[in-house]
Amino acid sequence: MGKKIVVITGSPRKGGNSFAMTDAFIQAAEAKGHAVTRFDAAMQNVGGCRACETCFKTGKACSFDDAFNTIAPAILEADAVVFTMPVYWYTIPAQIKGVIDRLFSFVVGGKDVAGKECAMIACCEEEDMSVFDGVRIPMERTAALLKWTMAGEVLIPGVLNKGDIDRTDGCKQAAALADKL
Ligand SMILES: Cc1cc2nc3c(=O)[nH]c(=O)nc-3n(C[C@H](O)[C@H](O)[C@H](O)COP(=O)(O)O)c2cc1C
Repeated sequence: MGKKIVVITGSPRKGGNSFAMTDAFIQAAEAKGHAVTRFDAAMQNVGGCRACETCFKTGKACSFDDAFNTIAPAILEADAVVFTMPVYWYTIPAQIKGVIDRLFSFVVGGKDVAGKECAMIACCEEEDMSVFDGVRIPMERTAALLKWTMAGEVLIPGVLNKGDIDRTDGCKQAAALADKL
């Protein structure tokens, strides 16, 4: 049966490497009958967590009403959440980090989010796979804390400019990720 999948992207670069992999994943997931909701965090207004701990007290996930509240209901309902991003300064780009920080609202709000699947697609310029540690480790620990199962990770090094992803099998790996959900 088709699953509800939320895809949250972190690159501000349209036509870039992580977007190409995102598109390949979404196309494959939809071909399998999954329903995909895409949220391009870098093109939205999403701030960080204010740690006010008033989550869901105003009827919305976050009391500071911005675009996080438009995607929060879809995340709550999703069977799987897929994060896609480039590595920025050895870690998660600020553009998507606001969304990740505000998953805290589900914890504070006592929402039952356990049992979802999670996956990650990431790329970076450098060739050394350890460059992904700053993205991979926080994502894996976040998933573990939320009791989400890591279904797959596509980590593509050695891509800098737009189009570099086409010299790799990144899009093929991203499409194959749809088979793991
Ligand atoms: C602000 C910024 C910081 C970056 N930091 C790193 C880094 O720490 N390590 C690395 O290998 N690549 C780094 N890169 C390169 C990107 O990860 C790389 O160009 C990637 O392919 C961009 O993905 P995109 O086309 O999806 O935006 C950085 C790029 C930018 C713009």
